[in-house]
Amino acid sequence: MEQASKNGIPVITIDGPAGSGKGTISQRVAETLGWNMLDSGALYRLVALAAQRKGVNFNQIDAEEKSLANIAEQLNVVFKPCANGGVEIIMDNDDVSQAIRSEDCGCAASQVAAQKPVRAALLERQRQFREAPGLVADGRDMGTVVFPDAKLKVFLTASPQIRGERRRNQLKESGIDANLAGLIKDIEERDARDMNRKDAPLVPADDAIIIDTGKLSIEEVVKQVLDAVKKVY
Ligand code: CDP
Repeated sequence: MEQASKNGIPVITIDGPAGSGKGTISQRVAETLGWNMLDSGALYRLVALAAQRKGVNFNQIDAEEKSLANIAEQLNVVFKPCANGGVEIIMDNDDVSQAIRSEDCGCAASQVAAQKPVRAALLERQRQFREAPGLVADGRDMGTVVFPDAKLKVFLTASPQIRGERRRNQLKESGIDANLAGLIKDIEERDARDMNRKDAPLVPADDAIIIDTGKLSIEEVVKQVLDAVKKVY
């Protein structure tokens, strides 16, 4: 019964690799529609940060799958909306909104995300974000695994060069100067790990609309998504 009522709530899934623009586009679309938003990557980043703080050995990560799954199950996190439209992320009473955004945490997140028990532990938590009037879900497997019944699935792409440049600009805004070649290398490594993992790899759902954001402005991509929303919801 619970499942059936949840399934009546509309979902738009926005998947894609690092730097493809998922986060910004999802936020704008959710704001425009007045819908809720799930940043699923933040959950994987939180597991990674909690694991680092607990001293999990990332050099032998496969051997740590049980402790990682426990960390994922017990994640004590609150997403607190702020007046400026952003979200404060509080884990164990600590504001980790900034800490989880580092490149280091992104790489660690992609390592924990390759562990099947971690994904299983986070599945239900992600589905709980499906609340009225609707949900925009941002991630890698939103359309393929978490919300396969979504009526609108979007997959964003862009070349590693462009995604690296975007990531560099993002970091610059937070006062961090990063090396472009290094960022592109990190992105390519993360793409390879996300696309080649056995469980929930990064692939577009068969029924996804694919948008190459390389030459488009944020506004243009948001418009394409909203036009597609009008056709299905
Ligand atoms: O912002 P960015 O695209 O760099 O990363 P993110 O969306 O915050 O995700 C960080 C990492 O979590 C990714 O590299 C994936 O390995 C993993 N992830 C995942 O496996 N499944 C999701 N639904 C979301 C993120």
